[in-house]
Amino acid sequence: MTYQTMDVRPLAGALGAEIYGADLKARDDSPMWIELRQAFIEYHVLAIRGQDMSQDDMMRVGGKFGEPCFYPFAKGMEGYPYITEVIKEKHERENFGADWHTDTMYLEKPPRATLLYALETPPRGGDTLYVNTAAAYDALSGGMKKMLEGLVGVSSGGLKNKKGGDRVAHLSRIGSMTSQNLDKATAFESRHPIVRTHPDTGRKSLYLSCLHTVCLDGFTEDESRPLIKFLNDHCTEPEFSCRVRWEPGQLTVWDNRTTMHNAVNDYHGFRRRMRRLTVGPEVPV
Ligand code: SIN
Repeated sequence: MTYQTMDVRPLAGALGAEIYGADLKARDDSPMWIELRQAFIEYHVLAIRGQDMSQDDMMRVGGKFGEPCFYPFAKGMEGYPYITEVIKEKHERENFGADWHTDTMYLEKPPRATLLYALETPPRGGDTLYVNTAAAYDALSGGMKKMLEGLVGVSSGGLKNKKGGDRVAHLSRIGSMTSQNLDKATAFESRHPIVRTHPDTGRKSLYLSCLHTVCLDGFTEDESRPLIKFLNDHCTEPEFSCRVRWEPGQLTVWDNRTTMHNAVNDYHGFRRRMRRLTVGPEVPV
């Protein structure tokens, strides 16, 4: 694809692009929006540099990718119930979004896209890693692809497999984020195909994570764990990955249908403050 309204610079072989020169305050009839959505499908992760965005701007840009979704475990901002602040303070050790995952897959209709806007970033570190789960699917053997046909993953919001404790333990250590629904975390449970098909491209991708997928439907957790771990490890191989570095005024938008991500917790002693919005509730098929 060639782009006329923005400068698109690929970040890695598998996925990801930096976008320069895009005007996210452009009128609704600007061809920029068509190109932005094309780049989103082509690259899966867009790091859009040099933006000055209010919450209203973020809601407007989010609307170009779908209807807003509530994040169940953190309260929204005053007047903006769909936007949550993702903050790690200088004194905190735990961050939000560590461990490979795709966003809120324990919901019946997980979001198509996530928008994350950087307000304050550490002088070094605090990058986010992404992998292309469609490329990971393509690289599997024919035998494995056949075996995965029809398998359904059961995913839970409880974070029971997270190192260091479950959802309650995890969010209670992130004091600067206003958590909610922690007592109901395990009630957020979904059943989605392990191999999903992208509605726009028809491309298949793997849809699971060790963090959220507790078992395969109809199998015990012990029986399921080795296959879930194998697929999670396979997806997160370096050749399927890219690394997004942050700077204030950067909006990164990613496709949860074809990616997993991991927020690297390597910036103790520095503050990182972002605004997060998920959009496009969609039943994975
Ligand atoms: C997330 O997992 O949605 C947050 C990622 C990040 O803070 O880099």
